[in-house]
Amino acid sequence: MRTTIDEAAGLVIVQSPEGERRYPMASAEGFAAASKAWLRAGWDVKHVYSFTWMGRPIIQLPEDMFRLQEVIYAERPDVVIETGVAHGGSLIFYASLFEAMGHGRAIGVDVELRPHNRQALEAHPLTGRITLIEGSSVDAAVLRQVETLIAPGEKVMVMLDSGHGRDHVLAELRAYARFIQIGGRMIAADGIMQDLAGAPRAAQDWTWNNPRQAAQIFVAEDDRFIIDEPGWLFNEGAAQSRVTYWPSCYVTRVR
Ligand SMILES: C[S@@+](CC[C@H](N)C(=O)[O-])C[C@H]1O[C@@H](n2cnc3c(N)ncnc32)[C@H](O)[C@@H]1O
Repeated sequence: MRTTIDEAAGLVIVQSPEGERRYPMASAEGFAAASKAWLRAGWDVKHVYSFTWMGRPIIQLPEDMFRLQEVIYAERPDVVIETGVAHGGSLIFYASLFEAMGHGRAIGVDVELRPHNRQALEAHPLTGRITLIEGSSVDAAVLRQVETLIAPGEKVMVMLDSGHGRDHVLAELRAYARFIQIGGRMIAADGIMQDLAGAPRAAQDWTWNNPRQAAQIFVAEDDRFIIDEPGWLFNEGAAQSRVTYWPSCYVTRVR
């Protein structure tokens, strides 16, 4: 794939095995193609490793979190369960939204909660809205612990951001589906891996061994769920698709 951004001509030119496509920059397609190239450059320079949220490093593309904020504010879950805590910036992000909304809490599961991260999260002003669990996200004991923290009927959203191998994410989707009510969502982060084979730090098997594939397999086997794209609440521009590390990520229960 070769993408040429010709600012003088106002064109984005994409050459692929299927041929050459030329898109006006001021089109949804042109913006999407330029964004794809930008995401690849961002991966190469580790752009997502440069942000904090209220003092804690958050390893996410800001647009993904902005869009997720739209979903959380609109759908008002009682609980977000996140697998994959790392420094805890994303947990603090959910907690900060819940604090502002006056309702909601976050449960973070990580196979290794490093002492300095745990200490920082426990000392954070928003710690009251967070529960931390150490252990593998698919471990039966961890799932039992999560279960004790959720009351019957509570509206749960699940964010899967731990191991990103296909089989692990598929196991997580199968395990955490029990917490999701009709209308609720599980988000399989980092499906962008599928498009990164050949990039620095990427493995060749990412073409299939990734969260996007896991989400597709899961919705094919469990017909209560579909992959959905939450509508945008506001759009006065021409862009029509998310600039995202999480393509096809919103696994939504519809029945
Ligand atoms: C990408 S980081 C999470 C980033 C974090 N959500 C954020 O937005 O800043 C992935 C984390 O998943 C954890 N992890 C890896 N495998 C896991 C597993 N099987 N169960 C739970 N956590 C796991 C790692 O220890 C690491 O801290």
